[in-house]
Amino acid sequence: MMTFYPDIKLVHVAAAMTSGTLFALRALGLLAGMRWPRAALVRYTSYTIDTVLLTGAMMLLTILPAGLFANGWLVAKIVFVVAYVGLGIAAFRPSWSLGARAGLVTAALLCFLQVYGIARAHDPWGWLLWLVS
Ligand code: HEM
Repeated sequence: MMTFYPDIKLVHVAAAMTSGTLFALRALGLLAGMRWPRAALVRYTSYTIDTVLLTGAMMLLTILPAGLFANGWLVAKIVFVVAYVGLGIAAFRPSWSLGARAGLVTAALLCFLQVYGIARAHDPWGWLLWLVS
């Protein structure tokens, strides 16, 4: 299974970048008052990308040695993934004012950036490492 590690990781990272880019574009469209971000085709495309992302994540989790996660970076990453998904879902609720929606979108995108930083650094602090070190 380790033979496929580079390919699985490539698929996971590509799906993660596509997922974040699509979320950012949909959120911008929503903030601009457009209707396409809520269209069924766009939503189902987003669910499909996220399924690929999570499948890749589960495969990486299975093939990598547990010691790689010993400093807790994966747990921190999952906490930020959950926050990103939760804030993203909340941002798409119809009831918000423009300001509140913009705040939720910004918070979701900051969580996404932190997920990326944690993954790259293999450290729970992610980008914050620059501040604390
Ligand atoms: C927004 C969601 C996500 C983003 C942006 C993301 C991003 C990334 C990136 C950029 C890498 C490559 C890190 C490197 O260069 O070593 C990576 C690897 C990895 N990710 Fe994710 N990921 C996401 C979700 C998840 C989830 C939900 C899990 C687990 C449940 C997960 C588990 C992993 C694992 C195990 C690796 C392999 C680390 C390694 O090869 O050393 N990811 N992720």
